[in-house]
Amino acid sequence: MVRTDATVIDSAGDAWTGRAGFIAAAIGSAVGLGNIWRFAYVAGENGGAAFLLVYAVIVVLIGLPVLLSEFVLGTRSRGDILAAFSAPGAGRWRWVGVVATLVAFLILSYYSVIAGWACRYFWAYASGTLAALPQEALPAEFERFASDPRQTVGWHALFIALAAFVVSAGVAGGIERASRLLMPLLGVIIIVLAAYAVSLPGAGGGLVFLFSPDWSALRHPQLYLAALGQAFFSLGVGIGVMVVYASYAGNDGRHASVAAAVAAGDTLFAVVAGMAVFPIVFAFGLDPAYGPALAFVTLPQVFAVMPGGWWVATAFFFLLSAAALTSAVSLLEVPVALLARRGVSRPWAALGVAALAFVVGVPSALGTGPWRELTIAGLQILDAIDFVSANLLLPVVGLAVVIYVGWRLPAQQAISASGLPHALGCAWLLVVRYVAPLAMAVFLLTPALV
Ligand code: PHE
Repeated sequence: MVRTDATVIDSAGDAWTGRAGFIAAAIGSAVGLGNIWRFAYVAGENGGAAFLLVYAVIVVLIGLPVLLSEFVLGTRSRGDILAAFSAPGAGRWRWVGVVATLVAFLILSYYSVIAGWACRYFWAYASGTLAALPQEALPAEFERFASDPRQTVGWHALFIALAAFVVSAGVAGGIERASRLLMPLLGVIIIVLAAYAVSLPGAGGGLVFLFSPDWSALRHPQLYLAALGQAFFSLGVGIGVMVVYASYAGNDGRHASVAAAVAAGDTLFAVVAGMAVFPIVFAFGLDPAYGPALAFVTLPQVFAVMPGGWWVATAFFFLLSAAALTSAVSLLEVPVALLARRGVSRPWAALGVAALAFVVGVPSALGTGPWRELTIAGLQILDAIDFVSANLLLPVVGLAVVIYVGWRLPAQQAISASGLPHALGCAWLLVVRYVAPLAMAVFLLTPALV
């Protein structure tokens, strides 16, 4: 049955206050470390502009249709990711919900570690420790911090506790309120930073890197998988978050426009963040393929030399932590909603899941320190888990989502839940049935075959 009231309160009382709340929370989930930390390093490792081009095409052709598919599933599920996959005669599909929940949990475990880095940088700037250091000392300073287990584990604990706090405050009172407050602020800060970075002498190299494609990079099959993984990670699809979030919004028939707003906002944010990071990388002669620490090593160097840098750095790392928080709460919400549906109280569920995710995340926190030598296929623990989750698990769950929505749900029901006008709805369903699964399968398989 399709609900029509935008603020319907379901049986557990979980709902956004309205459409604006839904959009704020969905963008809060999408915009996070993925747009700044992850986008910068993955684009940096994969040739910059060529990557951005493929990324944009994938967002439109695959990301957006998958996002809308998850919204469609959400209208059927009322906060319960397992119920989303329970079309008549489709019992086995519930395992997709189980896998999605586990993946959300796994990503949360290491996401919180990186978010802990952001919190630490915020604190170190706010308290004046970092502001006193000269520009050249900053990369070594990052190394020193990242190799100290008390620091990395401690900040990881603090961050995940914060996420648990927001989630236990409820859907509208915690998650929505935090997103509404923090997202606009973050947008302003990133634009100011990009404007400053672009005006630096030597910034041009960064803009060329980001916007002028070196076509030969398109020959590397890993680029496509990296772009697919980044698109899924950044939009936050293939994990059940958007299913659960859509279930808290009544179906007012406008999910397609919300999906478009989320995809556009998220992509724009990543591009502007790239315009903040890469000009700095080039102006200071750093390597764009620096790896996961890129944003933590490059940006502080410009903060050290820009007028008012201390103030901007403090604001930036505060807002990076905040963006990470609104994303982490969405990851935490997937297992918590599932437990809350089954009678566990929300605060206890949030606390329990967060505590477990903390423990599972500890190896990631140690992986830049005492466990540095422990690598998996040449990657440190955190990078390896990140690679497998984003490049493998998210697309696989995404694939299951489109196959389910495209082939198991009655077409008429899917189109009407999408809220698209009939012709556009049919086009969307064609993409969901054929284009998206095929493209995903090809991107997933080629790196393994060549
Ligand atoms: N999209 C978030 C980011 O870019 C991370 C995230 C991934 C959130 C998957 C929810 C689901 O940081």
